[in-house]
Amino acid sequence: MSETIIRIEHLYKTFGSGDGRVEALQDIDLDIRKGEIFGIIGLSGAGKSTLVRCMNLLEKPTRGTVTFAGQELTALKEKELRKARRSMSMIFQGFNLLMQRTALQNVCFPLELSGLKGEAGWREKRARELLKIVGLPDKADAYPVQLSGGQKQRVAIARALADEPQVLLCDEATSALDPTTTQAILALLKKINREMGVTVVVITHEMRVVEQICDRVAILDGGMIQEQGNVAEIFSNPRTEAGRRLVMPNGEKIHVLPANRLVRLAFNGATSGEPIIATLAAEQGIKLNIISADTRTIGDKSFGTMVLGLPQDETEAARALIYLREIPGVTAEEVTDLVQ
Ligand SMILES: Nc1ncnc2c1ncn2[C@@H]1O[C@H](COP(=O)(O)OP(=O)(O)OP(=O)(O)O)[C@@H](O)[C@H]1O
Ligand SMILES: [Mg+2]
Repeated sequence: MSETIIRIEHLYKTFGSGDGRVEALQDIDLDIRKGEIFGIIGLSGAGKSTLVRCMNLLEKPTRGTVTFAGQELTALKEKELRKARRSMSMIFQGFNLLMQRTALQNVCFPLELSGLKGEAGWREKRARELLKIVGLPDKADAYPVQLSGGQKQRVAIARALADEPQVLLCDEATSALDPTTTQAILALLKKINREMGVTVVVITHEMRVVEQICDRVAILDGGMIQEQGNVAEIFSNPRTEAGRRLVMPNGEKIHVLPANRLVRLAFNGATSGEPIIATLAAEQGIKLNIISADTRTIGDKSFGTMVLGLPQDETEAARALIYLREIPGVTAEEVTDLVQ
């Protein structure tokens, strides 16, 4: 297992006091590994932004510790903290560019601030390299108002990379963009992760974002982590209510004859495109009803769940279950709690 770059232990964040008190984060434990793309997904108000701001201590946790690259940030003085923070850049939904500065000057800005990084000529050269990496070599002299949302986010990414961070924290970085631009920005984040070795933390309310680029994911709900693990595992078989709400936003609303037993299949990617239902009918003469299906492709594999109604006949139902349980890459379990 690769080494941990950000470790969060027993972290709590409370805002306000008395009646106005908000427990924004409760007992968060999280390990983010060096070199991975880690997703934190949750609905609005779940505590995502608070959590990401606690990672670089822009928000001071009420309790608990944050350790970055072996250094306990929660124990540092402000000056040391500022230094450590330079290794963790952030990008936002609203891009946060300086409107009076060109793209090039925006990218130069953190280099000016850090004061360590050579003279103006060097800074400009570096900023141009970065604009090239993010695919905007010809927009150096454009002001933010002259750029599209996707282009603004590219400038923001170039700026975030200027100080050679180890971690890039992205708070809803694609939420203001259309689907095609979102894809392009996610592809860029993936490229930066793979080619520059930057660990990426992606905060989002959109499952598709996590599916497309994340290696692991944590589901945040009500200020608590409900489940975490490999994206494929969590999304193909969410174990918590919060997980199911995110993974199956329309809910598995099932209306069937009460007499039918139901079985839920979870696909873990090994059986993409197998015509299971047709094969069962053709080879075994067993007919199953598809009650609901929510399958999708992640990378080049299929994941998701399908709920089937078993035949009324007990023997046939048992045979169907045996068959389904023997399919490699598929978990079949009887469902009793999803009928609504
Ligand atoms: N500075 C603050 N003062 C008081 N309450 C706050 C503050 N910041 C956040 N909160 C509260 O903490 C909870 C979590 O907020 P947070 O912004 O982290 O959610 P989020 O998951 O990022 O939501 P969204 O998806 O809408 O951005 C909310 O109830 C919010 O009202
Ligand atoms: Mg937020």
